[in-house]
Amino acid sequence: MKTKIGIGIIGLGTVGSGVAEILLRNGDIIKRRLGIPLEIVRAVTKDTGRPLPEGLNPAAVGTDAMQVIENPDVDIVVEVMGGIEPAKSYILRSIENGKHVVTANKALLSLTGDDLFRAASQRGVDLYFEASVCGGIPIIKALREGLSANRIESMYGIVNGTSNFIMTKMTQEGKEFKDVLKEAQELGYAEADPTFDVEGIDASHKLSILVNIAFGTPVNLKDVYTEGISGIQPLDIRYAEELKYRVKLLAISKMKDGSLEARVHPTLVPCSHLMSTVDGVFNAVYVTGDAVGHTLFYGRGAGSLPTGSAVVGDIIDIARNIQSGSCGRIPPASFKEEHRIALNILSIDDIVSMYYFRFTVIDMPGVLSKIAGILGDHKISVASVIQKGRKEGGEVSLVMLTHEAVERNVKSALQEIDSLSFIAAKTVMIRVEEGK
Ligand code: NAP
Ligand code: HSE
Repeated sequence: MKTKIGIGIIGLGTVGSGVAEILLRNGDIIKRRLGIPLEIVRAVTKDTGRPLPEGLNPAAVGTDAMQVIENPDVDIVVEVMGGIEPAKSYILRSIENGKHVVTANKALLSLTGDDLFRAASQRGVDLYFEASVCGGIPIIKALREGLSANRIESMYGIVNGTSNFIMTKMTQEGKEFKDVLKEAQELGYAEADPTFDVEGIDASHKLSILVNIAFGTPVNLKDVYTEGISGIQPLDIRYAEELKYRVKLLAISKMKDGSLEARVHPTLVPCSHLMSTVDGVFNAVYVTGDAVGHTLFYGRGAGSLPTGSAVVGDIIDIARNIQSGSCGRIPPASFKEEHRIALNILSIDDIVSMYYFRFTVIDMPGVLSKIAGILGDHKISVASVIQKGRKEGGEVSLVMLTHEAVERNVKSALQEIDSLSFIAAKTVMIRVEEGK
């Protein structure tokens, strides 16, 4: 019978400090839940000169990750240093040493998670990664356990806190993109390289993890269509509002005729949909299962304590497994390895969606009918049109919403339209989802 569980932490940055703070601050209540204490045996970071989380014994802090990985008193290794290497080698070595692992590293999991899952299963240790998607929201646990009776039909996620924070501040406070990004970095929300956040890469990492466990299929990142928020202009946020939509960076996955859609892009979401009200650093995932129907998971998607909460939740789960001798009970990827099926992921050209277009045109008779004619030729039906401004012979915006159309047709139509003499700038296209 173990009398305590030893924890080793690699990385004491935003997340690592949150983990240490929660373990120390809530040690008493965690002990009441587990019956035995969790003890931080060793924590390592690159720069030990920075202030340590309150209560963390400086003697337990070092710089060499091997002091965690090779430490006989460490039962659970927490990898919160980020990056691909040496994080991957550290995790594999920890698994080889029979240690359980908790990681928040979505970049690593999306690239090579299946190798890590296999290594953990073969060694009979747990590999948990709740914090890798949506910070403090227990969405991995929900998909792996709470919803495991269901065939998942679709998932719509706001899964990047930084992008949502930026879009919210731009929409509600009219702030500049670069100023809000700086604020998100200062608050510890952004990745080490913030292009991961604003170009949709972090969201596609998270979507690939969710798809993997929700549908039991390996996902190659290159098959996830990815477009970020860096090209969104305040004008389109305003026009969307007038049309009663909000612009959100959505991670979308849907099952369609045996194939999967997996895509990340800015999306117009109706103001009447719950997802449109998810603001700031908050994340949400709207999951539909064939038995349960619609479900919504909501909470803080980034930051020290919310993310630390997910990591410590995983540590507690593993500690319970250690106590009851049931490690490895839940397959890391949710499905039994031998029963995972490689599903086809649809090319973005084959998806069917509704669209928002903003044409910049020279205001003159016949423009609208010419555009509508080309759209019609490509089987695109217009749902509504508004002309913003009136300036005979000058530039105006023509804003359109379409009914459902095939993306390939949309691209061909826009290419043809953008070559017309009265088109003054490249047409803006944003996909629209009703989120049903
Ligand atoms: P961070 O603030 O940059 O912290 C990383 C820490 O790891 C730093 O203290 C760094 O030391 C240390 N480190 C780097 N290489 C190391 C090594 N070889 N040995 C020991 N320590 C090392 O990053 P973070 O925001 O906490 O993110 C950590 C991980 O969590 C990433 O995978 C990230 O994607 C993920 N995540 C972050 C959030 C969030 O809200 N921030 C949420 C969910 C998941 P130095 O500072 O001295 O370089
Ligand atoms: N950079 C990430 C975000 C951290 O903004 O969502 C949480 O995964």
